[in-house]
Amino acid sequence: MISKLNPFKPRQWAAAALSAAILAVGAFGFSSGAEAQNVKLGKTTWQEGGADCVRCHGWAGDGQGEDERAPQGANLRLSFLDRDTMEMFIKCGIPGTEMPHFDRGAYTDDRCFGQTAQQIGNDKPDIAERTIIKRQIDALLDYLYAEVVGKGMPVSLEVCEAYYSVGSTRCVGKYAPAAEAAPAAGG
Ligand code: HEC
Repeated sequence: MISKLNPFKPRQWAAAALSAAILAVGAFGFSSGAEAQNVKLGKTTWQEGGADCVRCHGWAGDGQGEDERAPQGANLRLSFLDRDTMEMFIKCGIPGTEMPHFDRGAYTDDRCFGQTAQQIGNDKPDIAERTIIKRQIDALLDYLYAEVVGKGMPVSLEVCEAYYSVGSTRCVGKYAPAAEAAPAAGG
């Protein structure tokens, strides 16, 4: 009986994601050293023209989505998920939440948490409006770990201008310079 994971609990899913990720590493070997080259493609994938993660997570990944009708995504700047778990969540979505799955084939077989659509039932994440392929997912992960994951809060003017452009109306007057935004240092 595979449905031991029912009823679904986030902790169990995280554990399942982890063991699935470990299995995946065992099966396919470690990823190549080409990761660092992909940050630019990753940013494109993150944005509206790509997988449109920004719709729910916001350009900065802080959970302030670009579309106010969209579900509020998690704050990835405060996330400490390891890369394998993050990849699993992007491909498979997060069961029982509004985080959709971006691997077109997820739940057509048991590649995600060992569950088919039939087994997972109502907790099956929605399919994303635009699914992405392995190369885009790898690039997206490179981008996220370079610029977003664990980078903390608040989002500074400098971070915004690096994302858009120096002097961008998206940034000026909306985000404080890092020196001002940072909690007062020292005494
Ligand atoms: C339709 C809205 C939506 C879209 C689009 C979306 N997400 Fe999410 N995402 C969510 C929500 C909602 C959560 C929080 C789920 C929960 O734990 O309740 C989430 C959670 C996550 C998490 C887990 C974070 C953590 O620390 O637990 C990751 C990683 C993530 N999203 C990455 C992405 C990436 C990368 C994309 C684009 C490929 C994306 N999301 C697109 C809604 C979305």
